[in-house]
Amino acid sequence: MRYLPLAKIDKGMFLANTIFSNDGKILLKKRTKLSPSYIKRIENLRYTHLYIYNNEDEKWDCSGLISDKIRAEAMAVLWDSLISAVKRQPINANKVIITIEGILRDVLQRPDALFNLIDTKTIENYIYNHSINVCILSILMGKKLELEREQLKELAIGAFLHDLGTAYIGSSTKKINELSTQDTVQIRQHTKYGFEILKYISNFSFHTANIAYQHHEREDGSGYPMGLIGKDLHLYSKIVAVADSYDAMISDRAYREAFWSGEALAELEQDSPLKYDPKVVDALIQSVAVYPVGSVVLLSNGEQAVVVEVTSSKTILQHLQTTDDFPEVYKDSELQIEKRLA
Ligand SMILES: [Fe+2]
Repeated sequence: MRYLPLAKIDKGMFLANTIFSNDGKILLKKRTKLSPSYIKRIENLRYTHLYIYNNEDEKWDCSGLISDKIRAEAMAVLWDSLISAVKRQPINANKVIITIEGILRDVLQRPDALFNLIDTKTIENYIYNHSINVCILSILMGKKLELEREQLKELAIGAFLHDLGTAYIGSSTKKINELSTQDTVQIRQHTKYGFEILKYISNFSFHTANIAYQHHEREDGSGYPMGLIGKDLHLYSKIVAVADSYDAMISDRAYREAFWSGEALAELEQDSPLKYDPKVVDALIQSVAVYPVGSVVLLSNGEQAVVVEVTSSKTILQHLQTTDDFPEVYKDSELQIEKRLA
């Protein structure tokens, strides 16, 4: 299995991750054998990287802790919620709750799960995959912070809908240094808009709406919309702030290339305690694979391999040359990962 840039993807290879439309329809199923026309289609969807199987019967999972069924459902629900928000109509809270229950079930059934994929978002599907990722990360972090099941549910709903307010402002592909003061003021309003939509939904707790409001606040008061400091921020908002920043960092954006997960974690660690709560950053560090699935690494025995599975207890690799050899790395095993090569 490999994580490859589009330029290296060739006909005859097998897709290792299902490709969805933004409203949750399956466009290309996992294990599809790629033809030139499929590759053209993927190119038109503006994918830059994808997970690929070397052969048809590889079993490695590149779906990111939730099943394709739940991912499709989540994308469809977010699509509908954003449309409802644009039309100033109420969102379907019951559908959101059912979807979040599905995500919670999938994530919590694997006690040693880590957030373990390199990003494959495109500019067009950014908000859908970002919202799902922030939701999954927040659940993993909340679990590390010993939240109860009902608290995880409140947190997960707020994490999933944290950027709902962007429906009112549209998306910008401008680079950060190209934004006018007016653009920045406008973008920052998404926190208030999200709060306004969510606070009237009686099936959601107030904390859910509060996440939309506070997820850009920072410990030192340098965030927005209120410039609140750490002691005035709810724990859920602190969790989503860190999950949101991490997922944005590991994504390609209009203004910069994606960070590798190790770099993003180091950056967030550096920004705590000033911007982020250290215990929350620590929960993120415990929830994320430093060498996610698809990373090409150098092993302590000098060999090169690709990560094909990673949990908090072990990493399974596949030799680059002899692809039917699968060394395993544990915390105390003699074999260790030295560094990331690609
Ligand atoms: Fe946001």
